[in-house]
Amino acid sequence: MSTEKVEIFDTTLRDGEQVPGCKLNTAQKLKIASRLDEIGVNVIEAGFPVSSPGDFKSVTEISKLVKNATVCALTRAVKNDIEVAAEALKYAKYPRIHTGIGTSDTHIKYKFNSTREEIIERAIMAVSYAKSFVEDVEFYAEDAGRTDNEFLARVCTAAVKAGATVLNIPDTTGYCLPEEYGQKIKYLKENVKGIENARLSCHCHNDLGMATANAIAGVANGARQIECTINGIGERAGNTALEEVVMILRQHPHLNLMTDINPKLLFDTSQMVSREMGMYVQPNKAIVGANAFAHSSGIHQDGMIKNKQTYEIIDPADVGVTESAIILTARSGRAALAYKAKKMGYELTKLQLDTVYREFLNYADLRKEVVDNDIHVIMELSRKRNIA
Ligand code: KIV
Ligand code: ZN
Repeated sequence: MSTEKVEIFDTTLRDGEQVPGCKLNTAQKLKIASRLDEIGVNVIEAGFPVSSPGDFKSVTEISKLVKNATVCALTRAVKNDIEVAAEALKYAKYPRIHTGIGTSDTHIKYKFNSTREEIIERAIMAVSYAKSFVEDVEFYAEDAGRTDNEFLARVCTAAVKAGATVLNIPDTTGYCLPEEYGQKIKYLKENVKGIENARLSCHCHNDLGMATANAIAGVANGARQIECTINGIGERAGNTALEEVVMILRQHPHLNLMTDINPKLLFDTSQMVSREMGMYVQPNKAIVGANAFAHSSGIHQDGMIKNKQTYEIIDPADVGVTESAIILTARSGRAALAYKAKKMGYELTKLQLDTVYREFLNYADLRKEVVDNDIHVIMELSRKRNIA
């Protein structure tokens, strides 16, 4: 079975930037867009141009700057939004308009006070109108996660007939279970007429912590684009994290799916986005968190010192992290202490290690972590006690 490509659609600058306190200026957006282009992102969602003059300017400048990726702009199913997006994208080498409308009964009733038939009409209008400006039009069925599959297939069929090249199936509220989301994608693959002319895309939110699992279930069932953000930032609990889906597909080659992303730049890109947005990365964040390759319990450290494969499924160098860390705490054992001490130039006999380890435990019990400087102090204390 040949390996197929999953396109990575990054929405850090649009869904990610919707996070309170994460506002970026145009220069910052250009810096991030340039990095996204460099790491191999296929589509960069640069913003929602009609939302503000600042966003319009950012999308325009990003369109001029980006060399390889498609540059995408979001709109509602509103003619003026589409005209403004087309204008902002006019310098893009590969422009895409991302337009759509809510399709769940909840959205139809409470947001639009409308009917299913009217929603289909508006979807057709939006896609056809966007198509009059650009060739590449992505249609989103907002709240597709809570839209019944039969109606969703009807809307998607209409969108493809109107010229949509990509069908985005957002789990807007992060509600679906992975199995359910995967089945939704499979159903659409089998029931949308003309689907051979369009790519299905997963856009999953993380309200129940399932954004990444849902996106993977989506591609395992036939979707070929994942919408995601660096560090998983985004509305409320965030979006699917780019670094997670890229590494999952790499670590599970039996899925026969790959991306164009250069994983060696993942850690640095995560740090850069965190700095620019002023949004810190939780230490236990998969792939890019400070503790993602840190080992602190004695049992794990002993295994790691014998062979890294005991507790690491990814070589940290693969994602741009220099090396895994052995963190000394009161839970560490003799093996970790001897390993750390040796790295710092202390060769200890078994007897010396016993003495130093006793000193170490007394010291470590009073601290969260024993750092390199503390090791020098512990060595000195042990030496003095041995002489006395
Ligand atoms: O979550 C969502 O439904 C969205 C759409 C606007 C694509 O972000
Ligand atoms: Zn979203």
